[in-house]
Amino acid sequence: MSRTRFPEDFVWGTSTSAYQVEGANGEDGRGPSIWDSFSDSGAACDHYHRYPDDVRLMKDLGVGAYRFSVSWPRVLPEGAGRVNPAGLDFYDKLVDELLDAGIKPYVTLYHWDLPQALEERGGWPERDTAYRFADYAQVVHDRLGDRVGTWLTLNEPWVAAFIGHAAGIHAPGRKSAADAFTAAHHMLLGHGLAARALRAAGAAEVGVALNLAPVLTPGQVTGSGKRLSEEDAEAVDRIDQLMHGQFLEPMLRGRYPERLLEIVDRTAGLGHVRDGDLEIIAQPIDLLGVNYYAPCVVQAQPGEPADLAYPGSENILFTTVPTAVTAMGWAIVPSALTLLLGRLSRDYPDLNLMITENGADFADTVTGDGVHDADRVSFIEEHLRALLTAVEQGAKVRGYLVWSLLDCHEWADGYQRRFGLVHVDFGTQRRIMKDSALWYRDVIKRGGLGDDRLRRPTLETVAARARVSRATVSRVVNGEPSVSADARAKVLLAVKELGYVPNAAARSLVTRRTDTIALVLSVPGQRGDALTAAVVHYVTSVLESAGKRITLMLSDTAESHRRIVQHVEAGLVDGVILLPADDTDPLTERLARTDAPIVLLGKPAITSLVPYVDVDNAAGAAAATEHLLRQGRRHIGMVCGPTHLVAVQDRLTGHRDALQRAGLRPHVAPAGLDGESAVAATARLMHDAGRLDAIFASSDELAAGVLRAVEGMGLRVPADLAVVGFGDVAAASWTSPALTTVRVPVAGQAKALARLLLSRLEGRPTTSVVLPASLVVRDSG
Ligand code: FCB
Repeated sequence: MSRTRFPEDFVWGTSTSAYQVEGANGEDGRGPSIWDSFSDSGAACDHYHRYPDDVRLMKDLGVGAYRFSVSWPRVLPEGAGRVNPAGLDFYDKLVDELLDAGIKPYVTLYHWDLPQALEERGGWPERDTAYRFADYAQVVHDRLGDRVGTWLTLNEPWVAAFIGHAAGIHAPGRKSAADAFTAAHHMLLGHGLAARALRAAGAAEVGVALNLAPVLTPGQVTGSGKRLSEEDAEAVDRIDQLMHGQFLEPMLRGRYPERLLEIVDRTAGLGHVRDGDLEIIAQPIDLLGVNYYAPCVVQAQPGEPADLAYPGSENILFTTVPTAVTAMGWAIVPSALTLLLGRLSRDYPDLNLMITENGADFADTVTGDGVHDADRVSFIEEHLRALLTAVEQGAKVRGYLVWSLLDCHEWADGYQRRFGLVHVDFGTQRRIMKDSALWYRDVIKRGGLGDDRLRRPTLETVAARARVSRATVSRVVNGEPSVSADARAKVLLAVKELGYVPNAAARSLVTRRTDTIALVLSVPGQRGDALTAAVVHYVTSVLESAGKRITLMLSDTAESHRRIVQHVEAGLVDGVILLPADDTDPLTERLARTDAPIVLLGKPAITSLVPYVDVDNAAGAAAATEHLLRQGRRHIGMVCGPTHLVAVQDRLTGHRDALQRAGLRPHVAPAGLDGESAVAATARLMHDAGRLDAIFASSDELAAGVLRAVEGMGLRVPADLAVVGFGDVAAASWTSPALTTVRVPVAGQAKALARLLLSRLEGRPTTSVVLPASLVVRDSG
């Protein structure tokens, strides 16, 4: 085996899941799933109708395996009992089509789309669901078992249990640590029962796919060589038990880790773990599916409250590392995959491993001649190299499946994510093979990677093309004046033709690197203080661990703008993080014209100007409005802050669109930023729009003003009128009744901002990050 070749029988393939690609949610007797109302996938990729085309695409790629999931509610619309033959027909045809194309089906039985009927009977926290899952597995096997050899019971039960039941970000959206632990145990039990049933029915291979992310401290990721402190080691171990031990140990060794049991006992009690359960769970498995995307980075942090998704994680900070990230904000650390596979092989030596998911979300651009997703190509290539290293060290890895074949519905993030090898235009359903697909096809044909690393053009390439020395290229690229006009022109032409992006190595060649970052703040007003504090906290800790210093600059006057621009133009900083003023901000535009990498908090008026981090204001406002509509409110007004602010504009748009979809008319009263202006706006709204039964305000300050105004009118909240705000600046503690609002993920934004700047400093092409906002329902509506 040469360095870049893979074992002869290595399986190359792609993955998808039912809810993310099929569409046809209301067709041929499919019952509702918990995701339908949570984040509607609509027509998705219309795979339900276009599967012959998609199989043809895969045949073209030359893949040997396709991992897809069966939709439980398509097969059993009520989750149990009545079988829907039309649902099974679809998978029957899909399997035949795959086999005809020489592609081996890998079937996942549960990829998160629980039938709604079972949720209504208690969902996964209810023990009976485990037994219903085994029945369902049996039904699917009865129909497909003669042609499908490999069965994966569950996909990422940790995510389904904890993101779905503790953090509330995924369906069914519960926020109960006890429910999450109970759900996890019942998923494990369901796995064991289903594995036993499948085996008894003659299944050739049974396995499970887990999300496995090595838990590391920042120092371990960057290889700082520092010894792990006792506290950090404890933090790493605790998170490892919660994410991995909780699933691997019962399945593979028939026991729960002691440390985990302590946490479960404290949060949920242990009554749900019955005698005999662990024997059922520990069915022998033939294959462990590894879904790997990014490491989980933590450190000990006294006083840090537990993260909702990790009940029991008090005193641990989930943090970031100075590496490049995908558009999802996930750190790109291929070496962690080698580490992970090595560890699994050591801990469970007889286990067959397979990468059942790995891939990346990057913002793709469709050009006249294709989708040139160089980032995705290098992501996959680097991970394949990491995998190969693990294989060379003895890990038994049977294959690699890219997530995903198609751009598709990304759960709570909807359609803004693009993980596909194949681009999908969701308006026309047109498919385009991206460069990564064509590249993967070559890898498969060759049975391995090319001998030359597929790289972006380097400094050397530019030097060769321009016929100058490396040092000259480096000087030009880094803006040094001591280069002749002629040489500069040649270099710039070569840079342009080759699409060269200077990287960290090139930068280190020059003496002008400052290792300093400017953090530019507008003088914080009342609004956004929590956000400013979080940005200062995360940006400082991330950048300092990357060896940078921070210069704090205030941008409160025109004079200060001029000073900041001068400072940046003089090359006194490597990059800029900008927290723009509330007003339309000329500073952003002026800084965008300099050469320095800049990232921005909050969407600018011209979105292509600089990469930014923001929350999805429009979707948040739509969610708030839809919530009011679901409660039967029909006369909904909006008190709206200044619309020259992009965030306010987006909130207004989201609100209007939601009303329009419901066939209702908006009633909007303009206000300023402060509560007093909302009092006046509310009075106007009531006067002009007549009898309202709800008011949505574009911020919590305004919502507080609305509450005051409404109280003055003698109306009861929420009986007569519901009030919903936006921003969650801890409003619950200072309004009465406690305010229902849209929560903005403050720490998430701050972390994303720091990562985005690091990506830019490394010279990676970057895309803006838009994080979801979530509705927090309290007493006011
Ligand atoms: C995994 C899921 C998969 C997809 C990728 C990006 O956690 O299994 O469905 O959403 O992440």
